[in-house]
Formats: sequence, C-alpha cells, structure tokens
Amino acid sequence: MRLILLGPPGAGKGTQAKMLTEKYQIPQISTGDILRQAVKDCTSIGQEAKSYMDRGVLVPDQVVIRVIQDRLGKPDCTRGYILDGFPRTVAQAEALGDTLARMGSTLDHVLSIKVEAEELVRRLSGRRTCRSCGEAYHLLYSAPRKDGVCDKCGAALYQRDDDKEETIKRRLQVYQSETAPLISYYQDRGLLREIAGQGEIGEIFERICRVLEK
Ligand code: AP5
Repeated sequence: MRLILLGPPGAGKGTQAKMLTEKYQIPQISTGDILRQAVKDCTSIGQEAKSYMDRGVLVPDQVVIRVIQDRLGKPDCTRGYILDGFPRTVAQAEALGDTLARMGSTLDHVLSIKVEAEELVRRLSGRRTCRSCGEAYHLLYSAPRKDGVCDKCGAALYQRDDDKEETIKRRLQVYQSETAPLISYYQDRGLLREIAGQGEIGEIFERICRVLEK
C-alpha cells in the first residue's frame, strides 16, 4: 500500500503513521523526521534545512525531492510506505508523480486529515518528544507518568523549536498557502479521501482503517 497522509501541522499525521506502520508492516517516511535527523547529524542537507525549519517555512523543493527519491529506492519500500509530510507543494507532488512513473508504480490513497485551527495550536504547543527513542507525548492529552521523562526509555523529553507559538502560526499560514492546494490536486486525480481528525487517537485510527479497507 502506497499512502500519503496530508494535513496541517498537528493534524496527527505522525501519530497515525506510526500506528499504520505497525498494522500494515510498511515504513513511515516522514520528511520532517529525516530533516531533523540530518540537522542533528550536521550533514550538508541538515545545514541547509535548519534555518528554514527554525522559521517554520518549507525547505526548498529540490532538497526534499532529492531526500524522497533516495528514500523510495530503499528495499523496505517495495511493499509500500506511508508518506508523512511529503508532498507539501504542487511541485513536490509532480516530482513524486514522475518518480513513481519511472518506477512503474502509483499511489493507492491520499488521506487528508482535517482538524480545527484552535485544536492544532493546542496539540502543537503541548507536544513533547523523547530525545532518545522519539516517543511523542502531549502535556494534556497523553502526559508522561513523570514530568519531562519518557515512560518508555527514561530519557529527557524536549519541545521542538518549531512548536513555539510564533512559529506555529507561521507553519499554519504556510500550510494554507503552499500545501492546502494539494487537496484539490489529488481530488482531481480521484485519490483523495477526507478523515475527520478530531477525537480520540484510536477512534481516528479506526476511521482511517475503514477507508483503507473499503
Ligand atoms: P514536520 O515534522 O513534517 O511537521 P508538520 O507537518 O508541521 O507536522 P507535525 O509533526 O507538527 O504534526 P503531525 O500532523 O505529524 O502531528 P503529530 O502526530 O505529531 O515538518 C517540520 C518542518 O520540516 C516543516 O516546517 C518544514 O520546514 C520541514 N519540512 C518537512 N517536510 C517538508 C517538505 N515536504 N517540504 C518542505 N519542508 C519540509 O501530533 C501533534 C501532537 O498532537 C502530539 O503531541 C500528539 O500526541 C497530539 N495528538 C495527535 N493526535 C491527537 C488526537 N487525536 N487527540 C489529541 N492529541 C493528539
């Protein structure tokens, strides 16, 4: 299954992608995670991406397209994958279409997760992530048992630099101007399905599975 999860920052793409990975045994490909790792490792891509990410704007298309082309060629992608946070512009969607055509492959589903703006801000400002294992928490919705400490591995939790209030606002604006046009792009191609993204995490997961299994 080759799947795109589309949605604004905080829609729950990463949360749902992790659950889908377990159920369908296909990898989650998150350009945000790949870029954050590149920043941490101080690679040339990471150095280029950092200033964009810190400001809450998109990393240039040619950089992320290269990252994705490289990732889709890896052996674990042969049975499918979940794209989380890519594509984010029409240029990226077109490059993805060209890459898949060269590989003799197509997309199966594009799921657009819808959540109200106020809830997005609440989710992003309360998000905390484990520095070591990457487990995600939320200060209100899924707090760790001990403040600031990961339940799973005991490492410290941190707040993403781009989850500060001003940067969240910028990211939501960027989503509206650059990424929201992909909804009609994939609607026109008959691939888009909408998912109501508010409610319990498990409830949303069930909605997604129902759409995928129809
Ligand atoms: P990226 O890492 O992709 O961030 P994003 O799209 O802004 O998405 P988030 O990770 O913030 O949100 P999410 O939808 O995954 O929500 P999550 O499940 O974590 O990108 C970061 C930056 O990298 C970009 O700004 C850009 O600079 C760059 N970048 C990445 N890809 C790029 C591309 N293709 N092109 C150019 N630049 C790119 O959930 C959020 C919180 O809510 C968590 O705390 C979670 O526990 C909680 N939560 C989730 N679901 C629920 C629920 N149902 N109820 C209550 N809480 C919930």
